[in-house]
Amino acid sequence: MKIDIVTIFPAFFDVLDVSLIGKALDKNLVEISVHDLRDATTDPHRSVDDTPYGGGAGMVMSPEPWGVVLDRLLTTDSVLVVPSPAGRLFTQAQAKELAQAGHLVFACGRYEGIDQRVIEHYSQSHTVLELSLGDYVLNGGEVAVVAMVEATLRLVPGVIGNPESLIEESHEEGLVEYPSYTKPRTWRGIEVPEVLLSGHHEQIRQWRHEQSVARTQRMRPDLLSD
Ligand code: ADE
Repeated sequence: MKIDIVTIFPAFFDVLDVSLIGKALDKNLVEISVHDLRDATTDPHRSVDDTPYGGGAGMVMSPEPWGVVLDRLLTTDSVLVVPSPAGRLFTQAQAKELAQAGHLVFACGRYEGIDQRVIEHYSQSHTVLELSLGDYVLNGGEVAVVAMVEATLRLVPGVIGNPESLIEESHEEGLVEYPSYTKPRTWRGIEVPEVLLSGHHEQIRQWRHEQSVARTQRMRPDLLSD
């Protein structure tokens, strides 16, 4: 898979060199390139934003530098992802979809976002996804893109050492995951649930499923209501 990230803060993405994603890069399972949007500007101040038409607070990212960079990066089968608090919620299902793509381009907006014509223009020729990490406002798309890239890449075959670990985890089957325990058997007077020590696989499977349902009811009733 190939990933291009366009941002005014390229250093933000140094974090992708560590951990699992770093290993995937080392194994050449994925190629990630980070591009500075300001390199596509032509004025001496390398400005990327301007005041909003219609008035209001904040600044809007100008379409010109985006057009220059995206024309260069997008090929016919690229998927363009624009993180935005006004986008569709990014979910595990969405991560699975992104993991199928051959080429992802992430456009990190700052301030009040990117001039909407950029999305309108590229939607005519490409799949453009406006995606939100959650119902809160970040200062820009960078943090959201780090999360989306990690959630997506761990689903690419070969990135996770043990693919079994992808099967029973939160948001598979629309539930959050059951609680996990390891040694010692007793910690600060709290025992590991007896059933997990029984060696009885069917009872363990059933207990874990019940725990998943109960935890989802308690923590995320919204997942059960639709
Ligand atoms: N940019 C600012 N806030 C965001 C959010 N919640 N999700 C994605 N991108 C964002």
